[in-house]
Amino acid sequence: MKEIEYIFENKPINRIITKPKVEDKIDLLEKLKTKIQNIDNCELKSQAKKLVFGDGNPNSELMIVGEGPGEKEDQMGKPFVGDAGTLLNKMLKAIDIEREKIYITNVVNFRPPNNRKPEPAEITRYSEFLKTHVSIINPKILVLMGSTAMESLFGSKIKISKERGIWKELIVNNKKYLVMITFHPAYLLRQPDQKRYSWADLKEIRKKIDSLQLNI
Ligand code: URA
Repeated sequence: MKEIEYIFENKPINRIITKPKVEDKIDLLEKLKTKIQNIDNCELKSQAKKLVFGDGNPNSELMIVGEGPGEKEDQMGKPFVGDAGTLLNKMLKAIDIEREKIYITNVVNFRPPNNRKPEPAEITRYSEFLKTHVSIINPKILVLMGSTAMESLFGSKIKISKERGIWKELIVNNKKYLVMITFHPAYLLRQPDQKRYSWADLKEIRKKIDSLQLNI
């Protein structure tokens, strides 16, 4: 008679369903929003009109991170609603993505005075919020637009011109994410000759969505 073979693994059984439920996500996002709203001693918060937290579908498998709110975003409390947002919408449409189907946030959630770039200390401080934000949304693809988003999660020692357009893995709170760094739409408005690189990156993103059969 054939013996039954047992394979024992020296690891605990994972009985926890890792995919967060929709209601839990909404609750976690609300908690994070309150935490950011209550940030102390922050020049960004003290000068901004509104908190700009996130926009779109929190259950999306694609998450985009920009830099920080501009004037229009500060007025409306929503990311990417000004000129950069108009270009972002066109970029997404070019690869057949409806903006409502994805989730968008920024590195800093309050408008920097005079649209200045966030300071390194601000980027570091807000990166804790961003990491939590990424963990809650739990996307299959994370797109970092611009050097500020890149710096926030990868540090400041690398250059966007070298790092863009390449699939990378990033560990955030013990989970691995697939990441693409690409140019920020506001940069493309200033440097339209760079749009060809952005287009190449967008096509890579589309290809990955198709190969992973994501629901976007
Ligand atoms: N630029 C950004 O990075 N984010 C916005 O929300 C708007 C412009």
